[in-house]
Amino acid sequence: MATRALRALAVSGKRTLVRVDFNVPLREGEVADDTRIRAALPTITCLRDAGARIVLMSHLGRPQGERKPELSLAPVARRLGSLLGQPVALAPDCIGPEVAPLVERLDVGEVLLLENLRFHAAETKNAPDFAAALAAWGEVYVNDAFGTAHRAHASTEGVARLIGVKAPGLLMEKELRLLAPLLGSAERPFVTLLGGAKVSGKIDVIESLLPRVDRLIIGGAMMFTFWKAQGHAVGRSLVEEEHLETARGVLTRAAELGKEVHLPSDCLASRDPEAGAEGRVAGREDLAPDEVGVDIGPDSRRAFTEVITQGKTIFWNGPMGIFEQEAYAEGTRAMAKALVAATERGATTVVGGGDSAAALRGLGLADQITHLSTGGGASLKFLEGKTLPGLKALEA
Ligand code: 3PG
Repeated sequence: MATRALRALAVSGKRTLVRVDFNVPLREGEVADDTRIRAALPTITCLRDAGARIVLMSHLGRPQGERKPELSLAPVARRLGSLLGQPVALAPDCIGPEVAPLVERLDVGEVLLLENLRFHAAETKNAPDFAAALAAWGEVYVNDAFGTAHRAHASTEGVARLIGVKAPGLLMEKELRLLAPLLGSAERPFVTLLGGAKVSGKIDVIESLLPRVDRLIIGGAMMFTFWKAQGHAVGRSLVEEEHLETARGVLTRAAELGKEVHLPSDCLASRDPEAGAEGRVAGREDLAPDEVGVDIGPDSRRAFTEVITQGKTIFWNGPMGIFEQEAYAEGTRAMAKALVAATERGATTVVGGGDSAAALRGLGLADQITHLSTGGGASLKFLEGKTLPGLKALEA
């Protein structure tokens, strides 16, 4: 894809409008996890050092066009200010007459953060007027919001069409550099580990990656759709009846392509998962009708660890069980440790954002793998082989 390089842009003295993804978790009015803010620092400091006047914009949560005070970017502005070691002013809105003087008065190297873009419904609708109002703040446009690159919104797509001088930011470049080999030149054996609740949410990435991987491991609640498709007992576990055929299709296609698919041989089963009731280990044939599968079992943990150990490239997306509940987190924890061990042995390990990223962070292992993507949905869309609208719009 032909885009310009950030460092090649002439930004000195220029108002530079930067789309970042500061959609971060908050707790009691403060930023609970600043990974995404830190990930944007290289671009912001690069622009600052080059003498740009920096206007940042982001969404936070899904306020659906309503001004919700609890989704203000104020805590983000504070955290960014302390990470940058300089004040970051927060504009009262992202467009309009109150914002104009703040942008006008910005000095070289100063940083202004616009208020939550999604306080306006026009953002997600990619409304042309709204995109034009945002575009008025920049002579140069940079998109560093990899996590939102799969959305064709005004700040990611519409604005990019209106500003001629534009480039991806350094985080965007890094994400693409580390994810792209998974679609082509991954060192073999290439192992993909997929978890999560639903086959329907992963089928596109399975179809895209199946011809490229050597081994595909499937865990998480979607394992039960596969088990049922194979005629095994599933109790009250989550099963997508309408995707039994999809699951069978994956297994047939894998066999045609000569790819190994590893499904769990056992699971942890609980009668009352909502209450976090202790589980018991159950095999594929002995899940009772009132039991729910909540995690992969010990044999599966061992077998999957072994497969991961043999990989030279490993991609992981999706937890193995209901990892938010301590009693059902062991499978996800074991996979995280297997990835770290593989990384130590020299394998390239990449984790798509979302729940698997949260699990790694919760275990304090986030910096012990090759790459933890800042984009959950975006990294999956990219690996599905789909065009990311936010990226496409940056083409020169
Ligand atoms: C994310 O957290 O995945 C991105 O910020 C995109 O958010 P969205 O799913 O609300 O568009």
